Amino acid sequence: MQKKILITGISGFVGYHFTGKQQPNRQLFGTYHQNPVQLEDINCYPLDIRNTEAFIELLEQIQPDTVIHLAALSNPNYCENHPEKCQEINSAATFHLITACQERDIHFIFASTDLVFDGKMAPYSEKDATNGIMTYGSDKAKTEYLANLMYPNKVTIARLPLQYGWCEEAPNFLTNWVKTLQSGETINAFTDEYRTAAWAGDVVDGLLLLAEQEEKGIWHLGGPARQSRYDFAVELAKILEIDTTLVLPVLQKNIKMAAARPADVSMNSEKAVQLGYAPGMAAKRLKMILGKI
Ligand SMILES: NC(=O)c1ccc[n+]([C@@H]2O[C@H](COP(=O)([O-])OP(=O)(O)OC[C@H]3O[C@@H](n4cnc5c(N)ncnc54)[C@H](OP(=O)(O)O)[C@@H]3O)[C@@H](O)[C@H]2O)c1
Repeated sequence: MQKKILITGISGFVGYHFTGKQQPNRQLFGTYHQNPVQLEDINCYPLDIRNTEAFIELLEQIQPDTVIHLAALSNPNYCENHPEKCQEINSAATFHLITACQERDIHFIFASTDLVFDGKMAPYSEKDATNGIMTYGSDKAKTEYLANLMYPNKVTIARLPLQYGWCEEAPNFLTNWVKTLQSGETINAFTDEYRTAAWAGDVVDGLLLLAEQEEKGIWHLGGPARQSRYDFAVELAKILEIDTTLVLPVLQKNIKMAAARPADVSMNSEKAVQLGYAPGMAAKRLKMILGKI
């Protein structure tokens, strides 16, 4: 049977990685807000997620089996400086979408983050307590908790790790690092910030796995290895065959940012791996991504 999956925020960095994932048994639909997208294999529609009526119209039109809810304000510093906007878009709007899905018996996947943790007790499993130390992370943790309470039999919480990938339309830190290194300039990389980063294409496969199996509860979709941002950047420079001294080691704790950053939010994603989630090692994935540019 063909499953219909509606992805909010397909115009974002993660969303773009759904390109090419259409299959005979899976029909994908997406929404954008301020950045219209045209994907060759996915029908995309405009939507402001604060407009619940418009979302309901889309649900009635598409009749999806699952909604993968990516749309959000994803920049922790922006959220720290605009907490009311973060609350409006990342949590309040999400609750309205969940209610609309609940009324129609539609499976709902909420894209959360490793930043729900405080970074003091890594690696984190799905059973560990959340304690976000910045507005973005604590708001996601609160939304996770209430989403589960609201619709326990059909909500999935997918905690996504820091992701890398290549996307000209929605560039992320990798794009900036590659362009800077290739122009012979230095980049700063934290030696004291650890993550289980993953390629966004693998994370998207993990989200589709959760959608297909209609898995409920909390799932970690982290990468396969714990690494500091500095080690990741050195690995990148080596693959690009660029002098690794262009990567400058910097202590995150010495840099003032609007949003506090936890030191180590590495996730244990064994539960998802048992289900079939298969994130690749950074060296292999980076070679693949950079080979295509
Ligand atoms: N990227 C990561 O490393 C990472 C890590 C952990 C968790 N996550 C989570 O994964 C999800 C996707 O992240 P991302 O990196 O793809 O974010 P992103 O690149 O910032 O994209 C955000 C998406 O949300 C949409 N959006 C924002 N406000 C909206 C509104 N009011 N109504 C409708 N759509 C709205 C944007 O649409 P337009 O661009 O069209 O305006 C865009 O499609 C987010 O929930 C984020 O918290 C991401």
